[in-house]
Amino acid sequence: MYQRIIKPLLFSLNIERAHHVVLLMLRIFGLIPGGRWLLRKCYAVEHPALEREVFGMRFANPVGLAAGFDRNGEAFRELAALGFGFIEVGTVTPRPQAGNPRPRVFRLPKDNAIINRIGLSNRGLETAIRHLRRPHGGVIVGCNIGRNTSTPAENAPADYLKLFRNLYQYADYFTVNISCDNSCREGTTHTREHILQILNPLFDFRRGQNQYRPVMLKISPDMTDEVIDRITDVLMETPLDGIVATNGSHGREGLKTSRTALEKIGSGRLSGAPLTGRAVEIVRRIHTRSGGTYPIIGVGGLMSADDVRAMLDAGADLVQLYTGYIYEGPGLVRDVCRALIADAERKATRTAPDAASDAGETSGKPQDSAPNA
Ligand SMILES: Cc1cc2nc3c(=O)[nH]c(=O)nc-3n(C[C@H](O)[C@H](O)[C@H](O)COP(=O)(O)O)c2cc1C
Repeated sequence: MYQRIIKPLLFSLNIERAHHVVLLMLRIFGLIPGGRWLLRKCYAVEHPALEREVFGMRFANPVGLAAGFDRNGEAFRELAALGFGFIEVGTVTPRPQAGNPRPRVFRLPKDNAIINRIGLSNRGLETAIRHLRRPHGGVIVGCNIGRNTSTPAENAPADYLKLFRNLYQYADYFTVNISCDNSCREGTTHTREHILQILNPLFDFRRGQNQYRPVMLKISPDMTDEVIDRITDVLMETPLDGIVATNGSHGREGLKTSRTALEKIGSGRLSGAPLTGRAVEIVRRIHTRSGGTYPIIGVGGLMSADDVRAMLDAGADLVQLYTGYIYEGPGLVRDVCRALIADAERKATRTAPDAASDAGETSGKPQDSAPNA
């Protein structure tokens, strides 16, 4: 149904318009009595083999929706009903911001990819609070936070702290997005000093709270291995809970889309199939260096169940989808979940009788205060 009817309709629209239509339809579905139940009935797969315990929280399945899809938290409950194990809302900035001029999101169908330079367009902290304070209905909701484009780099820590403080009670975990689109140079935002200037005030605030909220750091696939190692060391040496790897890339290597078309599109982050290899490689590198004990959310070019398997095998505890979801539709989460159940059952029969305990895996970093169970 998605491939034959819905996708051609959505792909006939400008991608941002299609995105608005989808969010609107989901919200309408959410208002209809039984709407979310129906979505869950069609798409959600439940099975003990899918459950994961990561940073003290129980995830119904390891497949989440990546940041950027529900930037203002307006449809997280409906999206969860489509079968995701968790939803990452945002990126939210303190003040609303319009982002870059349109068009700013482009499909690359020949590459199963997207280029976007949205520039963290979102309706700001107040709107996010209004949406996230609604009952979550059992779904794990992460909040991805970033600084306003107009905030000077030296005031960036204050932006992150303001978001963290004010959203603390409304999200289950936080992702600090240090990548920036047009407003700054990544070389300066990826130094240990800069990262700690942002993270330390969050850790200090968290120490005074009764509830524990894990803090993740989202990284770019364009970082050198040296920078990735430096960030992995930050993970091991500070109360940072985990890493979300990765965001989209500024690279354009190996694409089937013509050079002319790419030049016409211009700058922006590339996501989707061309990213799979690098994202998996980065997750493996972090996992190996950190000894496999720190939570990693693997994201980037996960277009099929096999891609998700590769990401989990590389050491990710959880995964997130974005571009794969646009190209493959809501059936992708269901297909991935079914494939993971089949894998777990195969593994259980191979190692029977005592392999049933393989089904749920646990990971988590020793925490600097009580976990939010
Ligand atoms: C249109 C679009 C908007 C995005 N917006 C955000 C965002 O606001 N914050 C963020 O951290 N990542 C954002 N992302 C990046 C995704 O969360 C994800 O990290 C990236 O697209 C790689 O995954 P994918 O290949 O499955 O799309 C965006 C991606 C796309 C395609």
